[in-house]
Amino acid sequence: IKARGGMHEVLEFVEGLALQHGLVQPGGDYRALATPQAREVLGRYQVAVGSTGNLGMSIGVVASALGFQATVHMSADAKEWKKDRLRQRGVQVVEHTGDYERAVAAGRAEAASNPLCHFVDDEQSFSLLLGYSAAALHLQKQLAEQGVAVDAEHPLIVYLPCGVGGAPAGITFGLRQVLGPHVHCFFAEPVQSPCFMVQMMADATQGVGQHPSVYDWGLTNRTEADGLAVPRASLLAAELMRPLLSGVFTVADDTLFAHLVRVLDALGERIEPSAAAGFSGPAMLTGTTAGQAWLRSTGIEAVLHQATHLVWTTGGLLVPDAQYQGFVQRGRAVLAAQA
Ligand SMILES: Cc1ncc(COP(=O)(O)O)c(C=O)c1O
Repeated sequence: IKARGGMHEVLEFVEGLALQHGLVQPGGDYRALATPQAREVLGRYQVAVGSTGNLGMSIGVVASALGFQATVHMSADAKEWKKDRLRQRGVQVVEHTGDYERAVAAGRAEAASNPLCHFVDDEQSFSLLLGYSAAALHLQKQLAEQGVAVDAEHPLIVYLPCGVGGAPAGITFGLRQVLGPHVHCFFAEPVQSPCFMVQMMADATQGVGQHPSVYDWGLTNRTEADGLAVPRASLLAAELMRPLLSGVFTVADDTLFAHLVRVLDALGERIEPSAAAGFSGPAMLTGTTAGQAWLRSTGIEAVLHQATHLVWTTGGLLVPDAQYQGFVQRGRAVLAAQA
């Protein structure tokens, strides 16, 4: 989910540089970027990013592959194996003891002192957001291929994992652009890190201009969903979502592990805990007072039996086996305790 945005921003950056330095001509053959002459020029530039892990992975991989100096500022939540993989590719990994917000701020400050550094700003970047939104075009094609209609009689209800909000906001924006108003998007956040929820609540109750953190609510921002461990939402994402987002719900860590096992058993797919948050969506909608109130107020209750529920998840193929087996064990224990 993060890689699509990360790739977009780095490719946009390299394209701008390549045109500026005459390494490629408009409409020309971009394979010229792989020549030693081009790599020498690109190697003078740095690409930096602050991340809980997954955005850093994609930026580090694509930036180093293009020949840039790549620096990834990782928050304390980032998993060791993600940092190791980046180091193996020659990416400089800067480890921060603080949270995501502080890792991003440190990266932004360091980048500001280097005129040859491009900082990929997950809290503020429009290029990232547009990259995330491109997912909507792929989904549009998949739905058409499967003959899934999206209209007033057949609403599409989408449940997306949310960290800082950029990726799910980009996708929601894209889906509303290409599929129209009968797409209804909900964001899913860890119980201890509901930054988008507190942002939306502040906007609704105190007016626009607030920028609360989950710590203000006495929450810890500690979660096994490393990608979603973000204390304060992106204001760019929040502004874009204010008129478009249907709601936000939270998911307990134990539930993430239970979903991870259900996905493995039902589909044979390996996912990360962060990518499991959306699976609570349908039960949240039909089994809670707030969800039922939304169904009634929108009139969707009457057509719910014809609705398509879409849970956004992303693969965890890179997760080392030992780690993944630990996730599965925890999920099975949660399911056994519920049985
Ligand atoms: C697997 C996964 N899903 C969703 C997200 C949420 O993206 P964002 O932080 O842009 O809200 C992340 C963030 O890292 C992630 O790793």
